Amino acid sequence: MANELILIADFGGQYNQLIARRVREEHVYCEVVPFDQIVSAAQRRKPKGIIFTGGPASVYAPGAPLVDSVIFSLGIPVLGICYGAQLTAHLLGGKVESPAFKEYGKVELSITGESLLFKGIAHQTTCWMSHRDYIAQPPAGFQVTARTRLCPAAAIEDSARRLYGVQFHPEVLHTPFGQTLLHNFLFSICGVQGDWTMDHFKETEINRIKNKVENRNVLCALSGGVDSSVAAMLVHQAVGSRLTCVFVDHGLLRKDEGDEVERLFKGAYRMNLIRINAQSRFLNKLKGVTDPEQKRKIIGAEFIAVFEEEARKLGQMDYLLQGTIYPDVIESGTGPASVIKSHHNVGGLPKDMKLKLLEPLRLLFKDEVRRLGTELGLPEKLIWRQPFPGPGLAVRCLGEVTEEKLYLIRESDAILREEISRAELDNEIWQYFTFLPNIKSVGVMGDERTYSHTIGIRAVTSTDAMTCSWARIPYETLERISSRIVNEVEGVNRVIYDVTSKPPATIEWE
Ligand code: XMP
Repeated sequence: MANELILIADFGGQYNQLIARRVREEHVYCEVVPFDQIVSAAQRRKPKGIIFTGGPASVYAPGAPLVDSVIFSLGIPVLGICYGAQLTAHLLGGKVESPAFKEYGKVELSITGESLLFKGIAHQTTCWMSHRDYIAQPPAGFQVTARTRLCPAAAIEDSARRLYGVQFHPEVLHTPFGQTLLHNFLFSICGVQGDWTMDHFKETEINRIKNKVENRNVLCALSGGVDSSVAAMLVHQAVGSRLTCVFVDHGLLRKDEGDEVERLFKGAYRMNLIRINAQSRFLNKLKGVTDPEQKRKIIGAEFIAVFEEEARKLGQMDYLLQGTIYPDVIESGTGPASVIKSHHNVGGLPKDMKLKLLEPLRLLFKDEVRRLGTELGLPEKLIWRQPFPGPGLAVRCLGEVTEEKLYLIRESDAILREEISRAELDNEIWQYFTFLPNIKSVGVMGDERTYSHTIGIRAVTSTDAMTCSWARIPYETLERISSRIVNEVEGVNRVIYDVTSKPPATIEWE
């Protein structure tokens, strides 16, 4: 772990994760802690700096999240953002007011004072605002260093005590100088060096795992996805054959995927990997089931059953390795995001196995997990693998899941992937796959009338899967894909392309 630490006090704002990401982009290690733990965490862990996030409350609202003002006398620099700035002003005796107007969106900002925070930033610029309350009067000892037309104290500071507040959001891209401002706070005000690198993380984490596990045994459910693969690789480098990976092949994977996972981890890396071919078990359970949520539940439950059965055969296991990553950790604690995503967490693991959890990625963001994967020597293809849902092709096979239908999806999907790669579009498209809408239609092939299945293509661009647009694949590429699918996949006579964004549609069809 890095030596330098920044603590981010979470007041419930929607951009909290983003602040943490931006700080890490500066190679500075940070953690998000609930606002009511920030004082004790700061006293115990002695961070180089503290950031207060925004949040939906007003400092005057009953039950508003507050902190003990002792936080300002620890000698640790504080940067308050939006609500965090208002709170700083309020706690130190300034005046926060609720004007009749709301300031929202891109706003002109004038920097009016000399400030380390604004070093290298133009005096007239734009920033992203989203607030009702504002600081009407800064506390004694504070200066105003920036203003907007409607906001008389868009930035305040007491540089002697190293306390700063900004009403706007430096963490969002709509504030073009935001990263520079955060850089200034971290390097010029908190005095960090930026010692958070993946190489460093890898080495210290391997040592930590070695010391923790000692001569005990670790069990891992490996799916072949990025997170579980990186976690397994890291722990394998720490404890070698004390790690056993169980790979449950539920028969709902893409073409050749099971073999590829086995070849890589068992073949190339010589890991203890047990592949369970449970295809028929899963198909039996899914027989006659058409409801998407029901499918997910059945697959999740069966996954646990298979995994547990296998684990019992392995003798004494002490740790269960999971590829939990930081967004899961932050999201599971707060807000509505966790509700939207709960149905995605298929394959939650056995609770009654009495294993201790090992979650070495729980403080990393996805891009950091990928960088760690590269450090560990995993192939690029795996590191940049597109997201693939836990219940696999079952949610791309509308209606009942059968072997025949899975075959049509697998074969057509392999063609799609080949052509997307040939057109060098893989890096531009977030997710691309084929699905079976479960309709048959009339066609003609040679002189024969056909009555066969339709295959759908879904390809989307996105940054986080929360929203997406349909990908503008060139017509020529679509034509090749379509003609190859109907010619090469027996049982398909029609190909359609989904041109709906999310919302209102979702990425998957079920
Ligand atoms: P939707 O379809 O909700 O998908 O727009 C958003 C992202 O989540 C993936 N997804 C799932 N992942 N289990 C998973 O592990 C699921 O049940 C599941 N459903 C959707 C989807 O592929 C996309 O990346």
